[in-house]
Amino acid sequence: PSAIPVITIDGPTASGKGTVACRVAAVLGWHVLDSGALYRLTALTCIKRGIGIHQVGQIADAAAYLDVVFKGDEILMHGQDVTAAIRQEAVGEFASRVAALEPVRAALLARQREFRQAPGLVADGRDMGTVVFPDAHLKVFLIASARARAERRYKQLIEKGFSANIDEISRDLEARDARDSQRLHAPLTPAQDALRLDSSALDVDQTVNQVLDWYKDRTQAVQ
Ligand code: CDP
Ligand code: CDP
Repeated sequence: PSAIPVITIDGPTASGKGTVACRVAAVLGWHVLDSGALYRLTALTCIKRGIGIHQVGQIADAAAYLDVVFKGDEILMHGQDVTAAIRQEAVGEFASRVAALEPVRAALLARQREFRQAPGLVADGRDMGTVVFPDAHLKVFLIASARARAERRYKQLIEKGFSANIDEISRDLEARDARDSQRLHAPLTPAQDALRLDSSALDVDQTVNQVLDWYKDRTQAVQ
């Protein structure tokens, strides 16, 4: 196993994984992997090319040949800024369908592991602790109530200038949670050695500090 440390943050949609992962990485001066973005980019590519969910070979090809650059906060595909486009709920919805396909997950596995570079990596997604980085130094399973998550997603969409409806978001989140948890390949489930963190009543700072405290405890324990 690689000696380069990894912190994984897995959990359901809108639990705060991405936000917390970026903040923890910024404090530690580490790299960050938004693995969901890779599934969203695959989905966006399929939507643009008119590839349907049953065309598994073509979807896996789209995943294998993603031409993507992560540049700071921006995500460029074929040189085009797709940062906002991939956050649309329709793209997230299709992403969770393509993510259930084993050839798609296989196509993205090596690419995700390439993000493990010195001095360290914070990776967020669904299977970071269970499949992609099973030897991670700290595994967090981040949850929040369905209501808190729907409200967070609503606020995010409005701030980005999209129209949004809270009831529709709640229904979408539930459907996506169910699909992500019940699928056969790499379902959303905490790793055996993951620490659960319920952020329903925490703000971002409190959540970030808990993760950093746990990481400190881990590193002090081995010294
Ligand atoms: O990556 P994931 O879908 O899990 O969530 P996100 O995209 O990071 O969105 C979470 C949203 O909830 C962000 O707008 C955060 O500011 C907010 N939030 C949070 O992440 N953590 C809290 N403890 C409270 C709010
Ligand atoms: O931001 P949010 O939590 O809503 O979703 P995301 O992390 O951007 O991921 C979008 C979809 O990709 C999820 O609904 C999952 O089905 C899938 N995904 C996955 O299967 N495995 C990962 N490691 C990350 C995302």
